[in-house]
Amino acid sequence: MLRGGTAVAVPIKGRSSLTALQRAARDCRACDLWKNATQTVFGEGASKAAIMFIGEQPGDQEDLAGHPFVGPAGKLLDEAMLEAGIDRNEVYVTNTVKHFKWEPAERGKRRIHKKPRYSEIHACRPWLDAEISLVKPKVLVCLGATAAQSLLGRNFSVSRQRGELIESPLAPKVMATVHPSSILRAPDHSSRQLQKEQFVRDLTKIAALVK
Ligand code: URA
Repeated sequence: MLRGGTAVAVPIKGRSSLTALQRAARDCRACDLWKNATQTVFGEGASKAAIMFIGEQPGDQEDLAGHPFVGPAGKLLDEAMLEAGIDRNEVYVTNTVKHFKWEPAERGKRRIHKKPRYSEIHACRPWLDAEISLVKPKVLVCLGATAAQSLLGRNFSVSRQRGELIESPLAPKVMATVHPSSILRAPDHSSRQLQKEQFVRDLTKIAALVK
């Protein structure tokens, strides 16, 4: 079992495959989020993917299913990838934080998503770094502010800097765009359409980089 911020790095180091990494992550106790989550939701996809998508954390459906981006945000991501000419089977999809953080709804049984704290993002970072160093993607795509600020710095602004191609020690190119959940939260159909078109435009730019 992995306990404590730095202790987590030791068992991760020797893992030479994504499968071994995923197995080790099942018992991660580097922060407290495992306590209220059903399971660790690790990244999935092509082991040598040219594109790696990084979301925030698993949602309610992902927590139950044990797979990343299988709920409503994942469906929107799939549609946008398809429109941009990106095959989901050829990419790697993961999250900044591997456990679902939630609080109970005031009424009813719904589990309401809660944003992860900096300490939780930091505790989970060795897993993300290990995924990046095994997959070695050409492009890292940060979906939303949590992933972008974790990888590009706390002052990174997705609204101002989305779509920019950034060179980084992590990968030849890093791009941040919006999180698909933010498109689902658009107030009406036409703004949702518009935001989705902008999202597809960002993904099309990414697709062109790996052609
Ligand atoms: N939102 C995320 O950031 N990740 C998922 O896996 C699902 C929803």
